[in-house]
Amino acid sequence: MAFTLLEQPDIAPSGAQNPLIDRYGRQITYLRVSVTDRCDFRCTYCMAEDMQFLPKRDILSFEEIDTIVSAFVARGVKKVRLTGGEPLVRRDIMQLVDRIGGHLGAGLDELTLTTNGSQLRRHAVGLARAGVKRLNVSLDTLDEKRFAAITRRGRMTDVLDGIDAAEAAGLRIKINMVAMRGVNDDEIEPMMRWAHGRGFGLTLIEGMPLGEVGIDRVECYLPLKELREELGRRFTLERANYRTGGPASYDFVKETNGLLGFITPMSHNFCESCNRVRLTATGQLYMCLGQEDMVDLRVAIRDGGRDALDAALDRAMLLKPKGHDFVLDRTHTGPALERHMSVTGG
Ligand code: 5AD
Ligand code: SF4
Repeated sequence: MAFTLLEQPDIAPSGAQNPLIDRYGRQITYLRVSVTDRCDFRCTYCMAEDMQFLPKRDILSFEEIDTIVSAFVARGVKKVRLTGGEPLVRRDIMQLVDRIGGHLGAGLDELTLTTNGSQLRRHAVGLARAGVKRLNVSLDTLDEKRFAAITRRGRMTDVLDGIDAAEAAGLRIKINMVAMRGVNDDEIEPMMRWAHGRGFGLTLIEGMPLGEVGIDRVECYLPLKELREELGRRFTLERANYRTGGPASYDFVKETNGLLGFITPMSHNFCESCNRVRLTATGQLYMCLGQEDMVDLRVAIRDGGRDALDAALDRAMLLKPKGHDFVLDRTHTGPALERHMSVTGG
């Protein structure tokens, strides 16, 4: 990828008729949609080994998801990201991708996906055809054995093949890596060299205490602010004013000629500029990954159709909290929230 810092403009506030603006003046322009809470992996920081998934009968149909997306787009949402769980394990997922892709150019500016890459090889071309231009692929290590240990059941070669296929289909790729002390912190530099060498961005993410999982979060917590300072002694990091409408802040790394992103929900609260809300696979709209406030859009559409849906969106704007407040300390070892990331959407 040629390095193009300003190619992706900030998601501009839209001139929608009835925009979604919360009590703190933030306009919602970004909707994340978890299409399933299921996944073919069981990453130790994300899930328990024996995860209980939501009952299939409660999962929104594609029709319902599209109704909700349409309502958001009509009210100024410009960017939709499909997440999970693993979005590509949902049956017939490409039907939904095609359908939502139909809003592109008709209010919607961007449709993206966060995926673990396991099914990417067979879907890459279809995604590109539906109008997807960029993908986030989660990959925490380049070591096969470590990959198997972190994901508990994934095969790294599937993911690397998927990445190749996505690249061949013309999709731009960003790698997401959850940085964990004692697990993969020795791979941050190799991952950066690999990703940048291939023209991919790399974004490091701090682990968040969501749901009961398989690792000790206090032990594994790696503050990225310190890591950045340390990297800054070995590399030339230039603050990039590149924004994707998401929570990452980016540096351009001169030596490797690529973008390095940091998502720091634990050490830095980026909530002031939050422009997003999250729809779960069963239709609850969460206003914040780190808070309990939600409105049930499934109930709204099943009972009252489009008007009830719009009223629910207005209610949601009143509920959006000022920010999240994760704490990790040794006296409080449980999760900050019971809800796993795979429910609210990563
Ligand atoms: N904390 C931080 N990141 C997480 N992810 C999943 N669970 C957590 C967590 N508890 C990451 C995945 C993926 C992205 C969607 O979120 O690795 O990259
Ligand atoms: Fe699946 Fe992503 Fe969670 Fe791993 S982090 S178990 S790939 S949803």
